[in-house]
Amino acid sequence: MSMFDWSKECKTMKIPIIAGNWKMYKTHKEAFQLASALKQKLADVDRTKVVLCPPFTALASVKEAIEGSHILLGAQNMHWEEKGAYTGEISPQMLLTIGCKYVILGHSERRSYFFETNETVNLKVKSALEFGLIPIVCVGERLEEREANKTEQVIEDHVRGAFKDLAADLVKRCVIAYEPVWAIGTGKTATPSQANEVHLFIRELLSSMFDKDCGQDVNILYGGSVKPENSKELLEMSDIDGALVGGASLDAESFEKIVRSAI
Ligand code: 13P
Repeated sequence: MSMFDWSKECKTMKIPIIAGNWKMYKTHKEAFQLASALKQKLADVDRTKVVLCPPFTALASVKEAIEGSHILLGAQNMHWEEKGAYTGEISPQMLLTIGCKYVILGHSERRSYFFETNETVNLKVKSALEFGLIPIVCVGERLEEREANKTEQVIEDHVRGAFKDLAADLVKRCVIAYEPVWAIGTGKTATPSQANEVHLFIRELLSSMFDKDCGQDVNILYGGSVKPENSKELLEMSDIDGALVGGASLDAESFEKIVRSAI
């Protein structure tokens, strides 16, 4: 497999990205219904990138439902190998051929329940880029780490680990999602300024690791209890380029409201 040629891919203007991480919710039929409802509701939205990340079993039905719309498809994980004897795993090639453009990598639930490490996240990021998939790399501290003033250290480890040995040009194609673990599924959101502060830290870190534009060029999303009631104030922050939404992306009306708050 030769490396995907990113230089031929036009670098689109930075526009907000609102991604729905459906986690382990929705059968393929339910997923089809939700995606069809969103296609209808969001028909006029073309200045925000909307990405739906259903479970693997629903990728095909969601792809069918969003056909002819601006909505894009993403997966929630993948293996780094192209193929092989890896029972239960899904390859980048499989995601690509089913129509995925994005893939979430290193989500905190994968790190904590399925023992993903910075090393495996790095292998996955490299592989996704090699195949032409855009990684949405998740980073974020746990509550005890924030309370011990280790937020920056943890974020730095995640960022350095995920992008180890990558060229600046490729890093600029990636999306990062800052998801403080204490804000995921808890109803506790980081305040807009808390989130923005970490986003700024990530930008400065990327610029110091790669080149000075890197920090500005990478899209950084916030994730963790984003809902219609708080999305506007989060998305208005200078360094928040979009949102990775869990629970509130499972309902067409609330996800529509979040997407519209980014316009
Ligand atoms: P919630 O929006 O349900 O807190 O989940 C956030 C998340 O983990 C998105 O990846």
